[in-house]
Amino acid sequence: MGSGGNTTPDRSGSEQLHESATEVFPGGVSHNIRYHDPHPLYVDHATGATIRDVDGNEYVDYWMNHQTSILGHAYPDVVEAVQAQAADGLHYGIPNELGLEFGRQILQRFPSAERLRFSSSGTEATMYAVRIARATTGNSHILKAEGGWHGGNTDLSKAVHSPFDQPTTSGLPPDVADHVHAFPLNDEAAVTELLETYDVAGIIVEPMLLAGGGMQCTESFLDFLRAETRARDAMLIFDEVVTGFRVSPGSYQARIGIEPDLTTFGKVAGGGLPVGGLAGREDLFESTKPVGVPADEAVLAGGGTFTMNPMTATAGLATLEVLEEKPVYEYTESQSERVRAGFAEIFADLGVEAEVLGTSSLFLPVFQPEEPLTDVGAVETETNRSALLEFHDRLIDRGHYHLPGHMGSISFQTTEAQIEDLLESSRDVVRELTTEDIL
Ligand SMILES: Cc1ncc(COP(=O)(O)O)c(C=O)c1O
Repeated sequence: MGSGGNTTPDRSGSEQLHESATEVFPGGVSHNIRYHDPHPLYVDHATGATIRDVDGNEYVDYWMNHQTSILGHAYPDVVEAVQAQAADGLHYGIPNELGLEFGRQILQRFPSAERLRFSSSGTEATMYAVRIARATTGNSHILKAEGGWHGGNTDLSKAVHSPFDQPTTSGLPPDVADHVHAFPLNDEAAVTELLETYDVAGIIVEPMLLAGGGMQCTESFLDFLRAETRARDAMLIFDEVVTGFRVSPGSYQARIGIEPDLTTFGKVAGGGLPVGGLAGREDLFESTKPVGVPADEAVLAGGGTFTMNPMTATAGLATLEVLEEKPVYEYTESQSERVRAGFAEIFADLGVEAEVLGTSSLFLPVFQPEEPLTDVGAVETETNRSALLEFHDRLIDRGHYHLPGHMGSISFQTTEAQIEDLLESSRDVVRELTTEDIL
């Protein structure tokens, strides 16, 4: 499929599979985010920057496995390493040198980290980080950003989407939401007020909110959080599940020179296989040790059946090596900047009120933002949401896959020609949307 097509391709195979999936999974999906109207695509092949659906349609993939595959799909070095390891065992459930080396390589990259524990997902990592913060400080209140998504973790299931004073899900014990308090991004006064009202165990924040539409913390706000948490003996937790190993070798914290007490990571680190983990100062992990800790001080943090499995370690190590040896950061960031600038030019040329958010390899347009675009509420509007869905749906029809409504990302295998094609199609789509009065 090229940039010229504007009719919906045949997707009857995906439609039928989705139909039968409704008899297996509630609503036909095992993860709600993957549902979109009229039905999700079913994919049977992914290589380089491209995915192919079961009907044989090909798309350039800008979703890249939940922003995981910064190298693109089936990167040869990673595939070869994983295939070789598979013959030596998929998982041992017993310590192994590959897992040790993987841990060592991660620690070396995070400036703030002296020890780490693996988990199998980012959700578990943030759960364990909050637990360590509470155990270390003896306080129970946690502060988070409005629009911050830290996974399905019960402890943080609040203030992901507006209205921000609500739990994200029902089924929580009644007091969970009473111990989590959200602040508008970059609002120092709001944080100060919360710190003065509650005995706070820690503040958890993504330097850039992925679910929150790409809004970014300013450096001065992160500096402020660092100073305030230090002054009040609370933990500063950077959730780098998205930004970890994506924005620079030492992640976001190295880029801005701020050291949190704890860091959570996942996604990119696993090279396409499941991973999560938390890293931080050695003293914070003392109570998590298997021996020598009094029972009433012991903290369960990290672990799980599939942690430190040699397959993830192999894929992760191969990925970290490519990240070190090839100009992945330079390429993905410059190409993503080209998309951001290209979108901005299209919107200006066609008189569309829109801004483009994102950092490093990530990008997302915000349509008709409420001025000023300073907090997540401004991107959470129904106007933006419905325009973005239309924009993405029509790009998918032209062969550029975005999970509708979600951030796009450039991989190391995304070519300049594919990006040119994306921009050309985007111009056609925006023109179409203005003609139809959707924008
Ligand atoms: C910032 C952030 N933290 C945590 C998570 C949860 O990670 P996982 O989906 O691996 O559980 C996500 C997932 O998107 C995320 O974006």
